[in-house]
Amino acid sequence: MSSRGLFITVEGGEGVGKSTNMVFLDNYLRAQGVDLVVTREPGGTRLGEDIRQLLLQVRDEQVSAMTELLLIFAARAQHIKERIEPALAAGKWVLCDRFTDATYAYQSGGRGVAVDTVRRLEELVQGSLRPDYTLLLDAPVSTGMARARGRGELDRFEQEAIDFFGRVRATYLQRAQHESGRYRIIDASVPLAEVQQQLLAVCQEILPEAHVGHTT
Ligand code: TMP
Repeated sequence: MSSRGLFITVEGGEGVGKSTNMVFLDNYLRAQGVDLVVTREPGGTRLGEDIRQLLLQVRDEQVSAMTELLLIFAARAQHIKERIEPALAAGKWVLCDRFTDATYAYQSGGRGVAVDTVRRLEELVQGSLRPDYTLLLDAPVSTGMARARGRGELDRFEQEAIDFFGRVRATYLQRAQHESGRYRIIDASVPLAEVQQQLLAVCQEILPEAHVGHTT
């Protein structure tokens, strides 16, 4: 039987280069022999991707913060049951584009939902499941917003004002400070090659610990 895999999440505000760097991490880890499942939130399952569409689409009605929060955790519950837990149990690594840190940052930091409400849902939906490592791509809000706005039509989150993203960034950084064992902060404001050097350093720190290729 194989040992349990590592659960790695990638976080950050808008326009910090998450997609490009997810591809980089995916390629690098696979090249090192990691048996990897790459996924994202909200989404990662068929039902979850449907919920993602509901969450991102611009609507001509007010979406309450609680509705948004529950939809996110509904998608997460499905994702954990259908993909994340089975993969980790089979010894695979899971590389996930956003997870519950995003809920603390966006729904609590951004929208003002009480931290304790997020924590209670986290415990209810996830039990003891937490990421082993979280890579936070951090850049000033103005840099990220400029990149995101350059991509074209904005989704429901991207349409938020700059102070919303200021609170999102501050919440991420606060969490990273409080959980420095799990978090690695990547300076995403520098040129891509330098961002990827930082990512490589983190991978090289994680890989030997995880004894890739060895099973118990
Ligand atoms: P992205 O990951 O493609 O940037 O889009 C997902 C959007 O969903 C992003 O704006 C952040 C938002 N989001 C939340 O608000 N809370 C969450 O828990 C997650 C996973 C995502």
